Amino acid sequence: MTTRIRRARADDVDFLVGLFTHEEVEPFLAAVRPRDHDGVRALVDCSEREPDVYGLFVVEVDDEPAGTMEFEVVNRRSSIACVGGLAVHPRFRGRRVGDEAARLFQRHLLLEVGLHRLQLEIYGFNERAIAHAERVGFVREGVKRKAYRRDDEWVDSVMFALLREDLDRGELVS
Ligand SMILES: CC(C)(COP(=O)(O)OP(=O)(O)OC[C@H]1O[C@@H](n2cnc3c(N)ncnc32)[C@H](O)[C@@H]1OP(=O)(O)O)[C@@H](O)C(=O)NCCC(=O)NCCS
Repeated sequence: MTTRIRRARADDVDFLVGLFTHEEVEPFLAAVRPRDHDGVRALVDCSEREPDVYGLFVVEVDDEPAGTMEFEVVNRRSSIACVGGLAVHPRFRGRRVGDEAARLFQRHLLLEVGLHRLQLEIYGFNERAIAHAERVGFVREGVKRKAYRRDDEWVDSVMFALLREDLDRGELVS
C-alpha cells in the first residue's frame, strides 16, 4: 500500500464533497467549513491561487483518492500554520492511512516549506482523532472549554502543536 499526498485539483471536488458530507466524517469536522460543491471548489481555487498561505490536499492510496487535509498559515512572522480538516474515507479506514498521511504532511510543511509550528484543534469528544494526533507526535497543549457550538451543544476543543525541532529530534521516525 502506497500513501501519498498532493494538492487538491478541480477534478477532486466531487470526491471531497462526498467525503465531507459522509455521515462518518461530517460530525467530526468544524461545523463552519464548506461542504457544498461551490464552497469546496472555492477552497481548491484558493489553494491553487495562494499556495504559500493555504493548501487543501488529497491523500491517495495506491493512486486512488482516500482522504484529505489542509493547512493555513495564520502567522507569517512566526511561521505558524493551523492544520486540520483531516478525513479518511471509511472505505480506507483501519489501515492507519491517517497516520501515514499526517506524517507526510508534517514533514512537507516543517521541513520542505520551512514552517516553525503546526497547530491543531480537535473536538473533545473525538477520541479517535485525539489518539491519532498523539500517535503522530502532536503535543497536547491544553483544552479550550466549551469553545464551539455543535448541534446545539457546547463542546470542548483539545489543542495540539508540533514544532520543527520535534521532527529534528527524530521522534516521528516510524
Ligand atoms: C481520524 C481518522 C482520520 C483516522 O483515520 P485512519 O488513520 O484511517 O485510522 P484507522 O481507521 O486506521 O484507525 C486508527 C485507530 O483508531 C482506533 N479507533 C477507532 N475508533 C476509535 C475510537 N472511537 N476511539 C479511539 N480509537 C478508535 C482504531 O481501532 C485504530 O486502532 P488500531 O489500528 O490499533 O486498531 C478517521 O477516523 C476519520 O476520517 N475520522 C473522521 C474525521 C475526523 O475525525 N477527523 C479529525 C478531525 S480533527
